[in-house]
Amino acid sequence: MKAIVVGGSGFIGSNVVQKLLQENYEVKVIDDLSSGHFINIEKHVKNGDVEFIKGDVRDVDFVNKSFKGGADVVFHLAACVGRQKSIDNPQLDSSTNLIGTINVLEAMRKNNIPRVVYSSSAAIFGELITPTIDENHPQNADSPYGVSKLAAEKMILAYAGIYPELTGVCLRYFNIYGVNQRFDLYGNVIPIFAKRIYAGEPITIYGDGTQTRDFVNVKDVALANYLGATNATKTDVYNLGCGSSITINELAQKMIKIAGKQTEIVYAPERPADVKHCKANISKVKQTLGFSPMVGLEEGLEEYMRWYKDNCI
Ligand SMILES: NC(=O)c1ccc[n+]([C@@H]2O[C@H](COP(=O)([O-])OP(=O)(O)OC[C@H]3O[C@@H](n4cnc5c(N)ncnc54)[C@H](O)[C@@H]3O)[C@@H](O)[C@H]2O)c1
Repeated sequence: MKAIVVGGSGFIGSNVVQKLLQENYEVKVIDDLSSGHFINIEKHVKNGDVEFIKGDVRDVDFVNKSFKGGADVVFHLAACVGRQKSIDNPQLDSSTNLIGTINVLEAMRKNNIPRVVYSSSAAIFGELITPTIDENHPQNADSPYGVSKLAAEKMILAYAGIYPELTGVCLRYFNIYGVNQRFDLYGNVIPIFAKRIYAGEPITIYGDGTQTRDFVNVKDVALANYLGATNATKTDVYNLGCGSSITINELAQKMIKIAGKQTEIVYAPERPADVKHCKANISKVKQTLGFSPMVGLEEGLEEYMRWYKDNCI
């Protein structure tokens, strides 16, 4: 099988590449390295297992050219990622996330590629109004990022309606963590905690820390991508998390214990946009694609902390 992974040098994309190589796929990665890191896929490129083409998904001609030769499936992960980044630069967000997706769909059509597995996001829902989120939760995206991810998802569904030969599998990720997730300006909670814990700095928890989140390991996300390519029989959307949740207090304690470092926890006022509880209902992805999370949180956090210590300090 032949795959094109758009955004394949990023955190999740590089883990998808790893999974595809394990499954004996021929892999081409397209990425502009704007937030991804070549080091994430370097060994596969150097040993000839992965073809890497650097370029921008917003560039129609580039995308068309790089899709030449076709593939069985495209994994589309390239995006400008995150709520705050999209508020800071909404044009960059929409041109990458929406126009970039149209460019991918058009290049797929021109090169007869029949399937896309798209990395969508729980951000499409906006304010969460039920503690457990299924696919039918209202979609009231409340940031340029949520809107662009929702629009891209809808665009894929529209294309699949217009062109029956095209199948779109949209996976709406909740909180993902794991190997290759680096700390950045717009960072997620786990890399932020890891950075502070290893630096001997206090970690900040907003609110009383009893808020809960669903953390799914990136290896399970890569598995779901693979299953989207192999098991989906029609175009559809799926919520993807691990289906259980823990409090931020518990998360902090687990990470501190794994690192074996004395760490002060500082409590700061709750942030207005933060929801109290968030957990994905993953019944649909389990029943339809045969997905089941394989990596327990303890095991996943231990691996992540080891990786962080070896690669990010
Ligand atoms: N990390 C999460 O918790 C999370 C949650 C929900 C959804 N997602 C989605 O998963 C996907 C991957 O996210 P990630 O966390 O791995 O982020 P990431 O920033 O590590 O990966 C995105 C990749 O896309 C590339 N890219 C960005 N703009 C590009 C452009 N114009 N042309 C070509 N390549 C470009 C980046 O260089 C990077 O390698 C994104 O679509 C994101 O919206 C992530």
